[in-house]
Amino acid sequence: MPWIVGVSGASGTPYAAAVLRALLGAGEAVDLVVSRASRLTLLDETGISFRDAHWQDDLREWLARGADGKPGTFDVDLGGVRYWNAGDLAAGPSSGSYPAKGMLIVPASTACVAGVALGLSKDLLQRTASVTLKERRTLVVAVRETPLNGQTLRHLVALDDAGASVVPASPAFYAGATHIQDLVDFVAGRVLDAAGVEHGLYRRWRGGLGGGSTRQEQ
Ligand SMILES: Cc1cc2nc3c(=O)[nH]c(=O)nc-3n(C[C@H](O)[C@H](O)[C@H](O)COP(=O)(O)O)c2cc1C
Repeated sequence: MPWIVGVSGASGTPYAAAVLRALLGAGEAVDLVVSRASRLTLLDETGISFRDAHWQDDLREWLARGADGKPGTFDVDLGGVRYWNAGDLAAGPSSGSYPAKGMLIVPASTACVAGVALGLSKDLLQRTASVTLKERRTLVVAVRETPLNGQTLRHLVALDDAGASVVPASPAFYAGATHIQDLVDFVAGRVLDAAGVEHGLYRRWRGGLGGGSTRQEQ
């Protein structure tokens, strides 16, 4: 069964690329939904125009790119990917009878957070998220915005109440990051942690600050 990955129009397309690479590297099948707005962030952040007719070429170029923008940094096999147009509300993932392990929305815009919290289903991405909740499957929402207003905070509480895991795209600095990619991989790793997918994207906290600290993994 596939994981469904929804990419919405928040800044942070490198987070999506890192999650997709890790899922595929772990041998997971992936169904991909890319919102209309996320094509703008992808264009802005990578220079890539995502085209339905050439999605494999564009996705390959995107996933090969490092967080520093360097092309050809990663080698990715897209064999496990199925792509769905976000406007296609008759697509497989729009039904609860479509088999899926769950859904990861990375990055999640505040508009997407609102749409899912209110059950708007304005496109395939939002509809699939609502389906994921109603089927009691894993839904991980990697929201990216700052600061957050009260409205978005209330929507995030509603998502948490509905069973979703809210994983803010906020990198930590305890894992020894030296490059942008390390910070991106930390967020991607925490998204995968919330979904229970094994990965080696970041160095876990094992306790100890050189002074015998008893702190546990965070
Ligand atoms: C370059 C760019 C960066 C954006 N960054 C964010 C962001 O970080 N967080 C956010 O919530 N919205 C951001 N937006 C606005 C969303 O794209 C916009 O709210 C859109 O309606 C989201 O639609 P979607 O959820 O269907 O993808 C950004 C827009 C652009 C063009």
